[in-house]
Amino acid sequence: MKALVKERAEPGLSLVDVPEPEVGPGEVKIRVLRTGICGTDLHIHRFDEWARHTLELPLIVGHEFCGHVVAVAPGVEDIAVGDLVSGEGHLVCGKCRNCMAGRRHLCRKTIGLGVHRDGAFAEYVTLPATNVWVHRMPVHPDVAAIFDPFGNAVHTALSFPLVGEDVLITGAGPIGLMAAAVATHVGARNVAITDVSDERLDLAAKLGVSLALNVSRASLADGMRQLGMKEGFDVGLEMSGSPAALREMIAAMTHGGRIAMLGLPAEEFAVDWSTVVTSMLTIKGVYGREMFETWYNMSVLIEKGLDLSPVITDRFPHHEFEAAFETAASGRTGKVILDWSAA
Ligand SMILES: NC(=O)c1ccc[n+]([C@@H]2O[C@H](COP(=O)([O-])OP(=O)(O)OC[C@H]3O[C@@H](n4cnc5c(N)ncnc54)[C@H](O)[C@@H]3O)[C@@H](O)[C@H]2O)c1
Ligand SMILES: [Zn+2]
Ligand SMILES: [Zn+2]
Repeated sequence: MKALVKERAEPGLSLVDVPEPEVGPGEVKIRVLRTGICGTDLHIHRFDEWARHTLELPLIVGHEFCGHVVAVAPGVEDIAVGDLVSGEGHLVCGKCRNCMAGRRHLCRKTIGLGVHRDGAFAEYVTLPATNVWVHRMPVHPDVAAIFDPFGNAVHTALSFPLVGEDVLITGAGPIGLMAAAVATHVGARNVAITDVSDERLDLAAKLGVSLALNVSRASLADGMRQLGMKEGFDVGLEMSGSPAALREMIAAMTHGGRIAMLGLPAEEFAVDWSTVVTSMLTIKGVYGREMFETWYNMSVLIEKGLDLSPVITDRFPHHEFEAAFETAASGRTGKVILDWSAA
């Protein structure tokens, strides 16, 4: 089969022929239809310091995908050949205290699909049946392909109650955009989103946010005035990984405000802890998706009309992966999809 492989310890990826994976005990084999390009894949493509320290080569990359089930191991129930599925890309140990307690997203021994083991940018992928999410309701394959990052957005956005609240989202990348769509859909009052890219803020405006603010030109205080806000944001969703964004968010929160932090900063940085204390803020780190409460939430949001189509801006056949990766790395688009159906 064709697969996108990191073959050598240098920048780039190769589309090469590799053996098709066999379905192992408790596993499901999937014919991949569409995949989404994630920031992680860009790090692997560039082969930056993180990638150099993390990867064992050769490696089939990719973790955002959907496809049709083509084989199930004996004893696997409730998943059938032909089902449209997405994959939870975090493989948990099943044995640690959190796993045993059903808090699988808190597993200490999580293995990443397309990072620590062969991934989904290929014609076929196998996964433990416990990592497979069957779409029981109709969903467009492009949307099914991005359930993994959609899950990051939903997990973060639903960390704190949003109904009637003023919500600040920093970072209008694909995940920030999806979080904005979710916050609006579930009944936040004001949804303000910030970025330094006008193209991405234009996408946010299409999603119906209350305010899409370019913080390279305007301050959050200006934005709050435009919204008629006096006391600060109730909920903050940090989705940029930028130190400046978190600092500005902390300063713009109401007393008792709550921050869910998904953005992964590249290095340590200082924040104004005295404001965190005196504003009595809660800051929660968010990683991955809750298994499988977040997945349930995602399917129900789509079923109830949440429209993610404006977030998906670019589509390429899989063999044009170089152009697709370049587009994703530009930082100006929404989600970039690779189509594997004609492989
Ligand atoms: N915790 C997790 O499980 C998890 C999973 C996936 C991604 N992430 C992280 O979440 C973040 C969002 O992911 P993404 O794929 O949408 O990333 P992305 O890099 O495409 O988007 C980040 C956006 O933040 C913007 N930005 C930069 N400086 C800013 C500032 N000062 N204020 C506001 N916006 C600013 C950038 O212009 C960019 O559009 C990234 O940091 C990513 O590493 C975390
Ligand atoms: Zn991802
Ligand atoms: Zn575990």
